[in-house]
Amino acid sequence: MKLAVFASGRGSNFQAILDAIATQRLRAQVVLCVSNRTDAGALQMAQAAQIPATVVEEKQFASSPEYANALLAQLAKHEVNFIALAGFMRKIPVAVVRQFRHRIINIHPALLPSFGGKGLYGHHVHEAVLEYGCKVSGATVHFVDEEYDTGPPILQRCVPVLENDTPETLAARVLEIEHQIYPEALQLFAEERIRVEGRRVKIL
Ligand code: GRF
Repeated sequence: MKLAVFASGRGSNFQAILDAIATQRLRAQVVLCVSNRTDAGALQMAQAAQIPATVVEEKQFASSPEYANALLAQLAKHEVNFIALAGFMRKIPVAVVRQFRHRIINIHPALLPSFGGKGLYGHHVHEAVLEYGCKVSGATVHFVDEEYDTGPPILQRCVPVLENDTPETLAARVLEIEHQIYPEALQLFAEERIRVEGRRVKIL
């Protein structure tokens, strides 16, 4: 598996993937880190791990096909065959989604289809979960399709919502689970144990 990790922020899921590879829980090679921000923590992690990294900012391009082509060119150059989005804050161009159909996944810090979609990212998710009064939350690894957070779920895991939770304490509990299930999900692909039947993702 020649993996590209797309990250806009601190990169803790990227680090969890690198750790899983280092400890042989994940049989994959991260060949590229893509960010849309020059200040992303993930870029420093890539540098520390001697992984090629690139910043591709949508606004640098005159049109969306050019933006998509720039991403596709980077992916081709590094012979990427699988993409993991890890806190990437930009919509993936349709051309990239189509070329990587069923080979591009994301992690979301809630149990989809609840608390997903445009605007529901970061602390907004956990605030919404607490405001609604949910008793459980969790994380979802899912396929990326043309919309936000709508692709079929691959792995989901729950955490309890505690009575004195704040968005921060809940986020921390969910993040711990994210760091477990993201490498686990990727390893299922590495082992070719994922079969997609419509929206149902079967683990062989
Ligand atoms: C995670 O909570 C992930 O679920 C969401 O964005 C956040 C990224 O965090 N998609 P990090 O950059 O991996 O620490």
